[in-house]
Amino acid sequence: MADKGSGSDHVYIPQMNPRAAYCALANDIDEAVRRVLRSGQYILGEEVACFEAEFARWLGAGHPVSCGSGTDALALALRALGIGPGSGVVTVSHTAVATVAAIEMVGATPLLIDVEAGHFTLDAQELTVVLENPPPNLPPIRAVIPVHIYGQAADLGPILDLCANRGVIVIEDCAQAHGARYLGGQVGTLGDAAAFSFYPTKNLGAIGDGGLASFRDSEVAERARALRQYGWRKRFVSQEPGIASRLDEIQAAILRAKLIHLDRSNARREQIANAYDDALATTSLAPPLRRAGSRHVFHQYVVRVPQRDGFQARMRELGIATGIHYPVPVHEQPAYANRVLLGPSGCKITSVIAQEIVSLPMYPELTDGQVEQICAALKQAPYGGVFQTGEDADVRRK
Ligand SMILES: Cc1ncc(COP(=O)(O)O)c(C=O)c1O
Repeated sequence: MADKGSGSDHVYIPQMNPRAAYCALANDIDEAVRRVLRSGQYILGEEVACFEAEFARWLGAGHPVSCGSGTDALALALRALGIGPGSGVVTVSHTAVATVAAIEMVGATPLLIDVEAGHFTLDAQELTVVLENPPPNLPPIRAVIPVHIYGQAADLGPILDLCANRGVIVIEDCAQAHGARYLGGQVGTLGDAAAFSFYPTKNLGAIGDGGLASFRDSEVAERARALRQYGWRKRFVSQEPGIASRLDEIQAAILRAKLIHLDRSNARREQIANAYDDALATTSLAPPLRRAGSRHVFHQYVVRVPQRDGFQARMRELGIATGIHYPVPVHEQPAYANRVLLGPSGCKITSVIAQEIVSLPMYPELTDGQVEQICAALKQAPYGGVFQTGEDADVRRK
């Protein structure tokens, strides 16, 4: 486990540390849990209502509907917007499998396209191609889900323009991007709907599962609100078939306690990312590209290392855990391989980067001493030759 303090302690540093997130706010979280236990109301009570209102205020726009997970938030957003069987939905293969699972949960057909290697987000050029020339076996494309992966916005400008011109819905996957901005606009307020996850390691994490869908249109939000609880608009009367996917009162109370600190903890993530950038400047590895004029909130700090195994082993020797998000692209996973439809690129960049990406430790509770230890290790680790993360790497590979 990570040390509590001084920079001289070289003890093992985990890549993620949800326990540290609890310890940092233990008194507030304990009090929030006790408040719910004493209230006697455990499902869809005051804590959920207050959390939804506070989250919407923090987000700055939209109509929020909390639910049981980020996956359910995506599925509820799709269903509330009328996407189901007979709809094609475009997204990326370089994402948590949940994005694609949600599309299939509602009976729609996913089409997976590539990412731009510099930012790891949906390639708007390939989106243009598939919107103009969709695969013949794909139902009409009704929605696009750009994923703001690792805490950085997808290139929403062209994506929103392309979709608006064709009446295609945009649902932002914000599971990893609470607080990120795209050219000054808050992600989660720019498309027709957005889905957030509160999985414990996320920038805003619960102590269990949780999610929230936010909608531009209040009537669509009301439909999602009914769908999350059996399709009830009135208690015990289902207007349409729904599901049971509710954020529970304990998680809502915990999220309220943590939301107050979200902007500060995102700023700490940026500070840590800046330190990593500086350390990498003295090496042959390039830091992750940041989209100009936008805000990256570093859910993960991801570099590309050609000889990844050696790098990870050396970091481990130096007391530092690293991760891979994600080692197997969705279109190569057994559940989807040879079945899911791909865009004309065949997701080739996705397959290449899956072999090279490495996530460094990233959470706001990392101490300055730990960050120094990681930076010192970065300067010592082998990289397998000169390599650039960025557009030039794309060009080199074509
Ligand atoms: C990009 C992305 N989308 C969706 C999800 C699904 O969220 P959850 O795990 O809360 O269902 C996740 C979380 O893993 C994610 O990272």
